[in-house]
Amino acid sequence: MTTATLDMPAKPKPGTNPTPAGRAVPGRAVAKPDTLDRIILTGFMGSGKTTAGTLLADRLGWRFLDLDHEIEARDGRTVPQIFAEHGEAHFRHLESLTLASLLGLRRAVIALGGGAPEELGNRLLLEQTPHTAVVYLSANFDTLAARCAAQAADPAATARPNLADLNLAERRFRLRRPHYERIAAHTIHTTDLTLDQTVDSILTAIRQPKSPR
Ligand code: S3P
Repeated sequence: MTTATLDMPAKPKPGTNPTPAGRAVPGRAVAKPDTLDRIILTGFMGSGKTTAGTLLADRLGWRFLDLDHEIEARDGRTVPQIFAEHGEAHFRHLESLTLASLLGLRRAVIALGGGAPEELGNRLLLEQTPHTAVVYLSANFDTLAARCAAQAADPAATARPNLADLNLAERRFRLRRPHYERIAAHTIHTTDLTLDQTVDSILTAIRQPKSPR
């Protein structure tokens, strides 16, 4: 892992740095919890996927996996190193390969990287994998940017290359938001929620039958 710098905000390592949570809104049909094999957390950088996912997995007695950390473990380099040495396209390639392999796991909570739903292949894979609930942790851009800035002050956090330019990051946020909404069975509005409330909201959401879109 690299040390965060001021112009490269960072994400927390699993199990660190609590972030807020949210309120469930109706989404598309999802399997009942006892038939669910995995929960996927999606959302922009700073949405709390890693921190909420760690706690959620704990509550369920499931394993937690962070897609970025899996990529790093397999590649032997950090995400910023992969971006710097091979570019974002190569990172996206590794991300898609890693995601496909993780989706075979059962009793798992998986936190995606914020850009994973940009790839059509990833979206299709997520939609077509059975017994899988995708949950979108949403917040407005200012909230997300503030959380990332707070995380960047933690030297143990991993830097985020795609937050170095905030204007560009906001454009990405706007482009990605429809994808997050589309792939998710549930949306949790996290802006005013604590970490515990976020996890409670996810658990409530996945236990409720959802009407089809
Ligand atoms: C990225 C988000 C990061 C990581 C990489 C690119 C993005 O994951 O995959 O730095 O483009 O949004 P987090 O959303 O977990 O920070």
